[in-house]
Amino acid sequence: MALEDRYPNLHVSRHPLVAHKLSLLRDKRTDPKQFRELVRELSWLIGYEAMADLTTQPRPIETPLEAMDGLRVEPKVGLIPVLRAGLGMVEAVLELMPSAEVWHIGLYRDERTLKPVEYYNKLPDAATVQVCLILDPMLATGGSSAATVDILKAWGAARIKQVSLIAAPEGIATLSGAHPDVDIHVAAVDRELNQRGYIVPGLGDAGDRQFGTFAGPASEPGHAHDETAEIVRRLQRNLRAP
Ligand code: PRP
Ligand code: URA
Repeated sequence: MALEDRYPNLHVSRHPLVAHKLSLLRDKRTDPKQFRELVRELSWLIGYEAMADLTTQPRPIETPLEAMDGLRVEPKVGLIPVLRAGLGMVEAVLELMPSAEVWHIGLYRDERTLKPVEYYNKLPDAATVQVCLILDPMLATGGSSAATVDILKAWGAARIKQVSLIAAPEGIATLSGAHPDVDIHVAAVDRELNQRGYIVPGLGDAGDRQFGTFAGPASEPGHAHDETAEIVRRLQRNLRAP
């Protein structure tokens, strides 16, 4: 069964420009400058698709020739970039929706447990927007995304969408299992996670490739801990379960 049949909340772009740009993004020879440009361009395209169902309301306007009923987007939109890698997606989506509020959430993934660790959250007490777009290029185990959705639901967000570039099937299963009401918009769904919890074929570490921070072999996508490999195997068993 195709993943999109199993998860009706999953939307995978079919646009040839997206496929073309994503291939350039994945290429290991793409340097951080070009990588950032491509993240921006892809975020524009996936963000555009993710906002296709925003509701509108009539807005009377006058053209130079006559009065007419125009339209305006109804809900207040919030962009929620997940630090660090989500930062590179903000500007493009803000171009599409200049009135959006931007609320940053800081999470990093613990290398051994693959669990998200929260380190930045300045959300006010009550939600100030109706639709939240979570911006994060990678949906791997789904832990960071599910944690961000928990935060946004507790905040009072009425509608939440995940906007990513590459997802793993394991991450889609985790996020959809915990939050089936959250739409997931991606440029591609890859084969699987490797033993280290990285998406393969993927593109490597999206934060490091954007910001040029390559820390050496211990933090490379191929270098596995036993504990991490067991967590990935468990996620893969869950995914195969009917
Ligand atoms: C990456 C990515 C996501 C997370 C995805 O962030 O940007 O936030 O991993 O993994 P998950 O689905 O398994 O939770 P990372 O923790 O590497 O932090 P960084 O953006 O600061 O590099
Ligand atoms: N985070 C990344 O940046 N890349 C992956 O493949 C998984 C998590």
